Amino acid sequence: MDRRRRRARALGLAAALVGGAALAADAGPPLRAMRWVPRDADPVRVFATQPGECLRLPRDSAAALSVEVGRAAFRTPVLLGGQAARAGLSCESCHRAGRDNPDFQFPGASGAPGTADVTLSLFSSHRGNGVHDPKPIPDLSGPRDRLKVAPADRPKFIHGLVAEEFDGPEPTPAVLAGLVAYVDALDPAACPRAPRMAVAPAVLMSDARRALDAARREMALGDRPTAVLMVAAARTRLGLIDERYAALPAERQHLRNADAGLAALQAAIREGGPGAAADLDRWLAAAPALEAALGAREPLSLFNPHRLARATNRRLPANRS
Ligand code: HEC
Repeated sequence: MDRRRRRARALGLAAALVGGAALAADAGPPLRAMRWVPRDADPVRVFATQPGECLRLPRDSAAALSVEVGRAAFRTPVLLGGQAARAGLSCESCHRAGRDNPDFQFPGASGAPGTADVTLSLFSSHRGNGVHDPKPIPDLSGPRDRLKVAPADRPKFIHGLVAEEFDGPEPTPAVLAGLVAYVDALDPAACPRAPRMAVAPAVLMSDARRALDAARREMALGDRPTAVLMVAAARTRLGLIDERYAALPAERQHLRNADAGLAALQAAIREGGPGAAADLDRWLAAAPALEAALGAREPLSLFNPHRLARATNRRLPANRS
């Protein structure tokens, strides 16, 4: 597929997603990710819990940093850029916790639930024909010998996914290396004993802190664009908390102030001023108060499975695929 047709195809996919977003403004589901699950999926299983992550962090600190960079990038739509980003799609949308997603189904890109069409011309002879060719989303934490893309080919494959399939901006070398390192560090032997865990503000805040820690270390290495993306990843986590506190204005305001702090931090990192590291530390120092405030009202938020079920039964939209 040439660049223009490829772009048209990407935009077609994105238009379907953004169309979903516009519709959702009237009668939309309470959580954005509900737009890409079938209507009859159990909202409590899918959105109150998530699969455990099977991650083995390397001991070496530079290697561990690379995995953390990849882990954060994997979880932010900003990596993919453009319309897919606006629709809220990230690697994690399809590979939940670095695994698969049997409930993933969105208009124009999926066949049966758990499938998506992301084949690359590199690996698929169909791609140039514009054939709708959804494939099962593989569990990236499954047995290594079941993965189709050889470790040596992963950088090229992942680069193609980001920059071509999703038309995202060129990833920085550290981000690309990080995504590869993250996928390499997924290991079925590292899966937690419980197959699923609760989704909670504390879990998302922990992700945000990890991303910010990676941001700080990338700043120290002088890699400002990677640091900015890491802060974006933290902001994505705040956004996922925010949508579940829609009925709680005080907590929502607290979250939005915290997010504005991160937006300012991104600007400071871009400018390369000397104060950005101190800003980041101040934000982290204030984070426990935010987390405590969120935790205190968590039962009233959509992190509470009962509230989630009630909100969803009323509002889950028809599947438009
Ligand atoms: C829209 C859903 C979707 C998104 C978003 C997505 N993937 Fe995938 N991914 C798939 C599907 C489907 C396949 C299998 C393609 C095939 O079989 O040809 C796949 C395959 C892969 C593979 C190869 C697995 C193997 O068998 O070797 C890797 C690695 C991968 N994805 C990583 C990523 C990363 C990193 C991102 C984010 C940049 C990402 N994916 C985003 C759906 C998705």
